[in-house]
Amino acid sequence: MAGYDDFVQTSYKPNSKDVIATFHVKVPTWQKEKTAWGAVASESSVGTWAAVKALHYKHVQKVAAKVFDVKKDSNRGYWLKIAYPEDHFEPGNMSQIMASVAGNVFGMKTVDALRLQDIQWTKKIVKSFPGPQFGIHGVRKIFNEKKRPLMLSVPKPKVGMTSAEHANIGWQIWTGGLDLLKDDENLTNQWFNPFERRVLASLKFRDKAEKLTGDKKSYLINVTAPTVKEMERRAKFAAKAGGEYVMIDICTGGWMAVNSLREICQDLGLAMHAHRAFHGSFTRVHDHGFSMLNLAKSVRLLGVDNLHIGTANVGKLVGTAEEVRNIQNNITMDVAPADPKEHSLAQNWYGMKPVFPCSSGGLHPVIVEDVLNKMGTNIMLQIGGGIHGHPKGSYAGAKAMREAVEAYMDGVHVDDAAKSSKELREALEYWGHTRPR
Ligand code: 3PG
Ligand code: 3PG
Ligand code: MG
Repeated sequence: MAGYDDFVQTSYKPNSKDVIATFHVKVPTWQKEKTAWGAVASESSVGTWAAVKALHYKHVQKVAAKVFDVKKDSNRGYWLKIAYPEDHFEPGNMSQIMASVAGNVFGMKTVDALRLQDIQWTKKIVKSFPGPQFGIHGVRKIFNEKKRPLMLSVPKPKVGMTSAEHANIGWQIWTGGLDLLKDDENLTNQWFNPFERRVLASLKFRDKAEKLTGDKKSYLINVTAPTVKEMERRAKFAAKAGGEYVMIDICTGGWMAVNSLREICQDLGLAMHAHRAFHGSFTRVHDHGFSMLNLAKSVRLLGVDNLHIGTANVGKLVGTAEEVRNIQNNITMDVAPADPKEHSLAQNWYGMKPVFPCSSGGLHPVIVEDVLNKMGTNIMLQIGGGIHGHPKGSYAGAKAMREAVEAYMDGVHVDDAAKSSKELREALEYWGHTRPR
C-alpha cells in the first residue's frame, strides 16, 4: 500500500473490531475521485502524500483505515464509509481519537469540503470510557422527580451583573417553581461576579428556597477555567459549598478538560452539565465540519450527565427536529437505530447510562409545549430571556414556565392554562406564540 488510492478497498467487509465513520466529501474538479476518497482514510489514520516504505509493514497495515463503501450523492459529492481498526486508537483517549478521525483531513486541498457525520464506536472503545456518573435516572433521583421535564434558567444579561444580583435571580426562579439555576456559558470568574462569591451567595438562596418550597433545588455552576488545575479547585469549592452540579463549556474547554472533569466529578460525586457553545462553528454547515451528533456521542462516552442538544427548531438556534431527535436517540437509548436520512449508523452503548437532553435557546413559556410535542417530557428545559424578559420580571417568568409545563403534563393547552394563570396569561399577551429567531 503506497499512495492514497490504495486506502480504497471496496471489497473489505468490516468486523466488530472496526470503528466505522461516515464522511461526506466534495472532490475538487482537478482531483481523481478515488484519490480524494483514499486521502481521507490515509490522512486520518496512518498515511501521508508520499509513498513511504514502512506503509507496507504488516503491523502498520493492521491499524490502517480503509474506505469500504462509496455512494455518489451529487456532482463530485460522495458519502464514504471508512473502517478504522479499533487498535489504531488509544482506548479512553478522546483527544487522540479525534486527532485521527477528525484531524488533518478537514484542511486537505484534495477535498473541497469534508463532513464527518457519524462515528460508530466498537464495544472495546465504548467500554474504555466512563460514561455518565448519574445519567437521567440519577439526576431525576436528585430532584425526586420521575416524570415531568426538569426546568432551569440562566440569568440574563449573561455577564455584567454582580454576584448578589445573580443570586437574587436564583432566589426568584427557584421560588417561582424551577429546579435549577444555571451560569451562562461565558460567566466564570470575572472581577464583578467572582466565582466563589457567586457560588456562596447563590447556594445560600438555594437553601432558603428549598426550605420555603420543600422541593430540591440545584445550581449548574460553570467551572470552565484557564487550566484543569483551576477547574478542579473550582469544582472542589462547589462541592464543599454544598452544590450537586458543575457545568463545563465542552467545546471551548476541549476533550481533555471534559475527560479530566469527569474524573474529578467521580471523586466529588458531582453531576456534570455540558454546554456546547462554539459548536456552531463546525457543526452548522452541513457539507463541511463535524456533526453535532458526533459531539453528542463523544461526550456521552466522556460521561456528561446533561447536554444541550437544541430545541427541534422551535427556538433561536439552528437544528431541525429530525436532527435533534436522532441526537436525542443516540444519547438516551441503549441501542440507537440507524437514521439513513441523517446518514447515521446504529450504535450499541452496551449499558452506558443515558444523557439528559437539555433543550435551550430562544424559548419562552408559551412555546414550551411546541418543544415537548417534538422532544417529549424526558428532557431538561432551559429558558433565559423568556423568563427574565417577562413583563413582570423573573419570578413571574419562572411561574409562567412552571405552569406551562404543569399544564402540558395535565394535557391542558397553554391558551387554556393561561386563563387560570396570571403570569402565563401575561406571557401569552406579551409574546403570543411567536418563536424567537
Ligand atoms: C503534520 O502532523 O503536520 C502532518 O502529519 C505532516 O505530515 P506530512 O509532512 O507527511 O504531510
Ligand atoms: C443557554 O445558555 O442555554 C442560552 O444562553 C439560552 O439563553 P436564552 O434562553 O435566553 O436563549
Ligand atoms: Mg447561554
